[in-house]
This record gives sequence, C-alpha cells and structure tokens, in this order.
Amino acid sequence: MLDQQGFNLWADNYDKTVQISEENNEYPFAGYKEILNTIYKTIMEEAHSNVLDIGFGTGILATKLYEAGHQIDGIDFSTRMISIAQAKMSKANLLEWDISKGIHPDIRGNQYDFIVSTYALHHLTDKEKVPFIRELLSLIKDDGKILIGDVAFETREQLNACRHNNIDHWDHDEFYFVYEEIKLALEHICHCEFHKVSHCGGIIVITK
Ligand SMILES: C[S@@+](CC[C@H](N)C(=O)[O-])C[C@H]1O[C@@H](n2cnc3c(N)ncnc32)[C@H](O)[C@@H]1O
Repeated sequence: MLDQQGFNLWADNYDKTVQISEENNEYPFAGYKEILNTIYKTIMEEAHSNVLDIGFGTGILATKLYEAGHQIDGIDFSTRMISIAQAKMSKANLLEWDISKGIHPDIRGNQYDFIVSTYALHHLTDKEKVPFIRELLSLIKDDGKILIGDVAFETREQLNACRHNNIDHWDHDEFYFVYEEIKLALEHICHCEFHKVSHCGGIIVITK
C-alpha cells in the first residue's frame, strides 16, 4: 500500500495515470470521470454548500466545487498532494492528517451538507471503514449526504472476478468496497445505496 511518501512521489503524475487508466476503461480507474461528474452534479443541486473531501489528492473534484462557490474543507496525508490542491483553492481549509486515526480534531464539531471521498477510502481496511463512516455520519447535517466514489463491487464474487481478470496489476494492499457487505455492516446506523458506474467502479450514497 502506498504510504505518505508514495503519494508524494505519485502526486505530479497522478492526473495523467488516472486519465490513461480511465480512457482505456481499465481497472482501477474505469468510470472515474463519470463517478466524479455524478458526485459533482449531486452537490451542484444545492448552492453554496459546505463540503468535506477526504483524500482529495490533486483536488480534481474539490477544485470544480470550489470554483462553483462551495466551501471546501479537506483531509489528506500527502504534503505534495496538499500543495498541488491548495494552489488551485487558496481559501479551502486543507488539513494534513492520516485518516487511519479518524477525523482531524479541528473539524470534529463541524456539520457538512456533503462529505465526499473518491478513490481514498480503499486505503482503510474493511474493519476500519465502519467506525470511520460512523464518525462521518456525525459530521453531516440531518439531510446531508456522504458520497463515496471508488473501486467498488456489488458482491465479493464480482470483486474476485475483477481481481482474476487483472491479476498481473491487481493491488493486493487495497481494500475495495463490496456493497452488500458494507450495507450489512452499516444497516443499523444509516441508509445506503449503490450506483454501479463501470466494471470496477461505483458510488455509495450514505444518508442518516
Ligand atoms: C488515489 S488518490 C485519490 C485522489 C482524489 N480523491 C481523486 O479522486 O482523484 C488517494 C488520496 O488519498 C490520500 N490518502 C491515502 N491514504 C490516506 C490516509 N490514510 N489518510 C489521509 N489521506 C490518505 C492520498 O494521499 C491521495 O491523495
């Protein structure tokens, strides 16, 4: 799994790597643009909302929202990713923090209209995802939404089939969402929906 330093080294080439994988409709980024656009359009249904982006990277999604007048807070543990994103969003509140420790203390009392996370939460194990999402739920308003776009599958069988088809470049250190499993783990605390976008990507929408 990439650590902070790994993401620092990847940061300057990140957008290009994503573009190539997405244009070839390949694992892991097949459907990337549609996933980000769908999340963008959902947020744009409200004007001037406040948004928390977890693992914003170079800020591809957050920058579009920022330019459209939304208030952006973000968390990422890569200093290089943060400096690329901050250069595009001078007034965004971008915090350096490792989400395996939960949410940054400075934003624990905040209430967001939307929390977004694209291609970042697969760095948490399945066991870590549940308490982390529980913590995110405490940070959204009653009618707020958590929008997670990532490598994601409806079932474990579909994940295994994708791994089999991509075994030569599968990342064995990442923990991709299996919707039917995460839904079951969260069923007592929130409502979940899954929108499949590509053979290996989709959006999980979580509401209270
Ligand atoms: C694959 S990039 C996704 C970037 C962006 N959200 C996108 O959709 O293009 C993953 C991002 O999550 C960040 N990240 C990974 N693990 C993290 C952790 N434990 N804590 C905070 N940020 C993390 C990385 O630094 C990187 O910027």
